[in-house]
Amino acid sequence: MRLKLASEKETIALGVRIGKALKPGAVVLLHGELGAGKTTFARGLARGAGCRGRVSSPTFALAHLYRGKRLDVHHLDLYRLKAGEDGELGLDELLADPRGAVVVEWPDAARSSWPKDRLELTLAHAPPGRTAALKATGPASRKILESLP
Ligand SMILES: Nc1ncnc2c1ncn2[C@@H]1O[C@H](COP(=O)(O)OP(=O)(O)OP(=O)(O)O)[C@@H](O)[C@H]1O
Ligand SMILES: [Mg+2]
Repeated sequence: MRLKLASEKETIALGVRIGKALKPGAVVLLHGELGAGKTTFARGLARGAGCRGRVSSPTFALAHLYRGKRLDVHHLDLYRLKAGEDGELGLDELLADPRGAVVVEWPDAARSSWPKDRLELTLAHAPPGRTAALKATGPASRKILESLP
C-alpha cells in the first residue's frame, strides 16, 4: 500500500488508523531517514490504540510505554543503539508482553530480534510532504491491514 502524506496531520491520521486495528502482539517497524515522520506516526498509532499518556518504560531504557485500556504500546527508538548491544536490551521480554504492541524506530539496529510476521512502514521525504509504503509480512499483520478503518 502506497500513500501520500501531505502534512503532519496526515501522518498522524495514518498512525491513528493503524492503531485502531492493532492487536496485542503486533510489531510495527518504522523505516525512514532522520525527520521522515516516524515519531509523529508512532504518536498517532498510540492514540488510535486508545492510549493516553506517554511514560518511560519501567524496564527498558530506549522505550516509552503508552498505557491503554485495550492495549499498551511500547514505542522504541533504537537510533542510539550500538551494534551488538541488542542482546542486552531485554527485547524478548517486551515482545512477549501479552497486552502490548511494539512500534520501533530504527529497527535495523536489532535486525534479528523481530518476529517474521510484522508490519513494515517506510516513510520518505517528498517535500513539502512525505510518502508512505506499508506492507505486511505474515498472516497476523495482513489481518491488521485488511481490518484498517
Ligand atoms: N506528512 C508530513 N508532511 C510534512 N511534515 C511532516 C509530515 N509528517 C511529519 N512531519 C514533520 O516532520 C518532522 C520530523 O518528524 P518526526 O520527528 O516524526 O521524524 P522522525 O522520523 O521520528 O525523525 P528521527 O529520525 O529524528 O527520529 C516533524 O516536524 C513533523 O511535524
Ligand atoms: Mg523519531
